[in-house]
Amino acid sequence: MSGNFIGKPIPKNEEAQKGTVAWRSPSNIALVKYWGKHGRQLPRNPSLSFSLSNAHTDTQVSYTTRQDATETASLNFLFEGKKNIAFESRIQKFLDSIIANFPFLKNVDLEIKSQNSFPHSSGIASSASSMSALALCLTDIEYELAGKERDDSFFHKASYISRLGSGSASRSVYKDFCVWGTTSLDNKYADEYAVPLDKVHPIFEGLHDDILIVSSVEKSVSSSAGHQLMEDHPFAEVRYAEAGRKLIALAKHIAKGEVEAFGKIVEEEALSLHALMMCSDPSYVLMEPASLQIINQIRKFRKETGTPIFFTLDAGPNVHVIYPDNAQKKARMFVESKLLDHCEDGRHIFDIMGEGPQKIT
Ligand code: PMV
Repeated sequence: MSGNFIGKPIPKNEEAQKGTVAWRSPSNIALVKYWGKHGRQLPRNPSLSFSLSNAHTDTQVSYTTRQDATETASLNFLFEGKKNIAFESRIQKFLDSIIANFPFLKNVDLEIKSQNSFPHSSGIASSASSMSALALCLTDIEYELAGKERDDSFFHKASYISRLGSGSASRSVYKDFCVWGTTSLDNKYADEYAVPLDKVHPIFEGLHDDILIVSSVEKSVSSSAGHQLMEDHPFAEVRYAEAGRKLIALAKHIAKGEVEAFGKIVEEEALSLHALMMCSDPSYVLMEPASLQIINQIRKFRKETGTPIFFTLDAGPNVHVIYPDNAQKKARMFVESKLLDHCEDGRHIFDIMGEGPQKIT
């Protein structure tokens, strides 16, 4: 397999081959944020995340091979059991863009069915789970057609293809923590695909992410537009260097079980991401008053009780409350009694570090 993960065309064969594969793939939450990209979806800085468990996408791909090749992928797509033209055309475009990586796409008819475990309009980004679930299915079909066993390069390719669909999706193909992007932490980390973080202190096993849905309204500025605004951003170079430095420090705290130092970086990262948005040109704000109220209450509760409870934010107003499993009792009580009131109709998802993607079929 080459560095660009170019697959082989399917061998000429009289018999049509049919099959169905299905994968469940999780969402992930970045602790060091990917913000800024170049070329074909390559990151300007390395990022570090952990995979979730309850927020996931199930995708099933059925294929039938044929001898005559088409220039574009042949697709029928159903989202949550129904035809969805907007999603179908996004997937069509994506499949057409990866034909060089999966030449078999010219010789198959595909039927793709996908559904999320969380409501589509919940303000939870579904691109990481949905793109990684699709990439895992396509890589699985390639391996199936070639009669190959799944190995480490299976996940490298699935992560590479996920990345082309949505950068953050590259990090959803593994369980626990993982890193995407080159960093002097170790030369095994790459810009093309994510790699698991191997040194994790047991205190971080089963890390919690209580996702508080402050608003489910679609963001005023998309992540793609946000990445784009980093190109002429006055603080871009400082940001990329800082993210690289913070990732190395965070990985060390994760290895050594340094919870307070871990939380300090996690919160700095979340606020840096939003600070970058606030001083972009044009500037924009994605936090809501309730996001700040939650943040202030978390800090106050931590100071008063010494409970290791922290926050992070994605590119939106929803707050992710992060705490180790040994703080679960106190933290959950606090979240339920004090923070859910700030959520839109009390909406939340209590999530936890997950086992990574699972093959369903
Ligand atoms: O994968 P994208 O292009 O939707 O970008 C995601 C960027 C953040 O969610 C804000 C950060 C991250 O690393 O996931």
